[in-house]
Amino acid sequence: MSIPSFGLGTFRLTGQAVIDSVKSALELGYRVIDTAQIYQNEADVGQAIAESGVARSELFITTKIWVENYAADKLIPSLRDSLQKLRTDHVDLLLIHWPAPGNGVELVEYMGALAEAKKQGLTRQIGVSNFNIDLTRQAIAVVGKGEIATNQIELSPYLQNSKLTAFLKEQGITTTSYMTLAYGKVLKDPLLAQIAAKHKATVAQVALAWAMQLGYAVIPSSTKRENLASNLLARDLRLDATDMAGIASLERNGREVSPDGLAPIWD
Ligand SMILES: NC(=O)c1ccc[n+]([C@@H]2O[C@H](COP(=O)([O-])OP(=O)(O)OC[C@H]3O[C@@H](n4cnc5c(N)ncnc54)[C@H](OP(=O)(O)O)[C@@H]3O)[C@@H](O)[C@H]2O)c1
Repeated sequence: MSIPSFGLGTFRLTGQAVIDSVKSALELGYRVIDTAQIYQNEADVGQAIAESGVARSELFITTKIWVENYAADKLIPSLRDSLQKLRTDHVDLLLIHWPAPGNGVELVEYMGALAEAKKQGLTRQIGVSNFNIDLTRQAIAVVGKGEIATNQIELSPYLQNSKLTAFLKEQGITTTSYMTLAYGKVLKDPLLAQIAAKHKATVAQVALAWAMQLGYAVIPSSTKRENLASNLLARDLRLDATDMAGIASLERNGREVSPDGLAPIWD
């Protein structure tokens, strides 16, 4: 099992905006794309991939099942619909988007259906998103140890999620950081700016390199080709121990996303 450390996010982008973002990213060398049923852009992503000419075998595509499709008789049909939109016969990673406690479908049912999707070859790997420690434990109990490839969670220099990431590491589950840039908020941080200046890097590169150096996967999104290009170069930036310690001190429980009815009780 492996989760690539760097990919492209597509949240909030639809139509021509997402087509342009994905095509530019693929031209620049991105090979990992993160989408979701609820983003309503899977067909656009599929079109962009097809027009890019990049072979499917070179790509790592993630999608996420939306809460209304969690029932055992809905999850796989909804995935087949996603695959058709994405113009592929499998995804590389399939996630449960939110735990959504109380939406009427028990964890054991949707995790079972997720495992079945993998068994049928419709996804290479499975995982979860926005799960706390307790729910991740429950998910492991359903699908088996070693089966959950990642937990995709909000994580940035302002929300470091240290309890949950320590647990995931112990379980051999990769942490994927979403909103590593806190949707742009960390870009104005003075300490990050100082570290960026020291390395002749951008602040975005510093935040992304910090997360990758901690072993997390990142999936920043951008509508701008120059940001897509410079973000990718974060892979080449090495921060030193002083930089890492400084960024660790920026923790402020700066959560941006916690939708009622979908989110768990956070650790
Ligand atoms: N699992 C979940 O529940 C969940 C929730 C949220 C997000 N996600 C995933 O994670 C991905 C990333 O999150 P996100 O897109 O919300 O936020 P993000 O990557 O933290 O930030 C994206 C924002 O930062 C700006 N940006 C990107 N690179 C920049 C740069 N180099 N310099 C200046 N500004 C820059 C972008 O603006 P420009 O377009 O102007 O560059 C955009 O406004 C999403 O696209 C989605 O795939 C998952």
